[in-house]
Amino acid sequence: GVSFAYRGDALYCEDLPVSELASRYGTPLYVYGQKAIQTAYQEYDQAFGEHPHSIMYSVKANSNLAIVNLLARLGAGFDVVSGGELLRVIAAGAEPSRVVFSGVGKTDAEITLALQKGIRCFNIESIPELEQIASIARKLGRRAPVSVRVNPNVDAKTHPYISTGLRNNKFGVAYEQTLSLYRHAAALPEIEVTGIDCHIGSQITELSPFEDAGEKILDLIAKLAEEGIALRHIDFGGGLGVRYKDETPPSRKAFIETLLGMLERRGMSRLDCLIEPGRSIVANAGILVCSVIRDKTGETKNFAVVDAAMNDMGRPMFYQAWMGVVPVKIRRGDSRCYDVVGPICESGDWLARQRMLCIRQGDLLAVTSAGAYGMSMSSNYNTRPRAAEVLVSGEQAFCIREREKPEDLWRLEHIPQP
Ligand code: LLP
Repeated sequence: GVSFAYRGDALYCEDLPVSELASRYGTPLYVYGQKAIQTAYQEYDQAFGEHPHSIMYSVKANSNLAIVNLLARLGAGFDVVSGGELLRVIAAGAEPSRVVFSGVGKTDAEITLALQKGIRCFNIESIPELEQIASIARKLGRRAPVSVRVNPNVDAKTHPYISTGLRNNKFGVAYEQTLSLYRHAAALPEIEVTGIDCHIGSQITELSPFEDAGEKILDLIAKLAEEGIALRHIDFGGGLGVRYKDETPPSRKAFIETLLGMLERRGMSRLDCLIEPGRSIVANAGILVCSVIRDKTGETKNFAVVDAAMNDMGRPMFYQAWMGVVPVKIRRGDSRCYDVVGPICESGDWLARQRMLCIRQGDLLAVTSAGAYGMSMSSNYNTRPRAAEVLVSGEQAFCIREREKPEDLWRLEHIPQP
């Protein structure tokens, strides 16, 4: 990635040796490179050129305040999926008017909050949701801006748990129902129809699913226009994949050019074009640094037991995801084949399987491409305090989240008096 490279035997994040960060902040430790985040954002931004656009960073990928703040200063908007994420981006200094709110289960409290804060729009996913938003808006004396999230029924060709644009998924409004939903929405005085959106899945490594979904959405825009329902924006969602191992996802530039090409061919270039990237902005900007606690020779396998676990990085367990594991300082000598596992009492607690490594107890390893869906999916299982997070820019390191202390973990718990 842009921010990580070896200098001699030592892994660096920008101009700092990762080993130095580990001794300063301890392990497990998330390390992010600012340059990689900036570069990814700017590649998207520049690929749009003069075309009206908004890059709505999907906060769930990595929601640290410092990262949200960095992206807000670069000009990003945000895709949120909960009241918590909305309050988080506001706490990070972002404008609510640059926020879109997605998700199938927005509660009354979340809808109220979003209306009061004045978000850019709700990405609505059902008729009952439309009605609920309209009724809350009526009570508050406001108009709610909405965009309909369409389920285009296309196969994103990715892991089933992160594929969202198929008919049997819980997401979006069925394609065939979309027109009638728009007619209904356009007739409600409390609703302002502003756009249309789709999100078909994540870690998509080909352009064709985006084209298939995009063409179907553009068909709808054309039909709506014939009926006098003019949309101001189209939101193509997130989902562009990254390289973890040997995937060859299209570049950010190629992805945007494909989207703009579709708009141009239909004479729809006046539409404001939104995307909701998460992974493709932060995944390759982060690593998870851990220490080898034990080199354990099992009956049939060798285990490198490290101090990071599935509670810190859940992707391998959740999706059988392949994550890179590299030494923070390269050691010369014979490699052995290891499963890299955490200390948690679950057989699913592994980070990587069958990797050739040359390690000794106490060595540092880095799980690579860990900037997305790492810390944001972490938990406290086994009463494990969550890792610290550090943001590096050049020779500067800034602790953007302190390591939790064990007592933080039971701070909200109470023992009833007998
Ligand atoms: N927009 C919506 C409505 C989404 O649901 C998502 C992700 C995104 C945008 C951002 O997608 P991205 O550009 O990051 O692919 N935890 C899984 C990924 C779950 C994605 C959920 N939705 C993983 O670690 O692979």
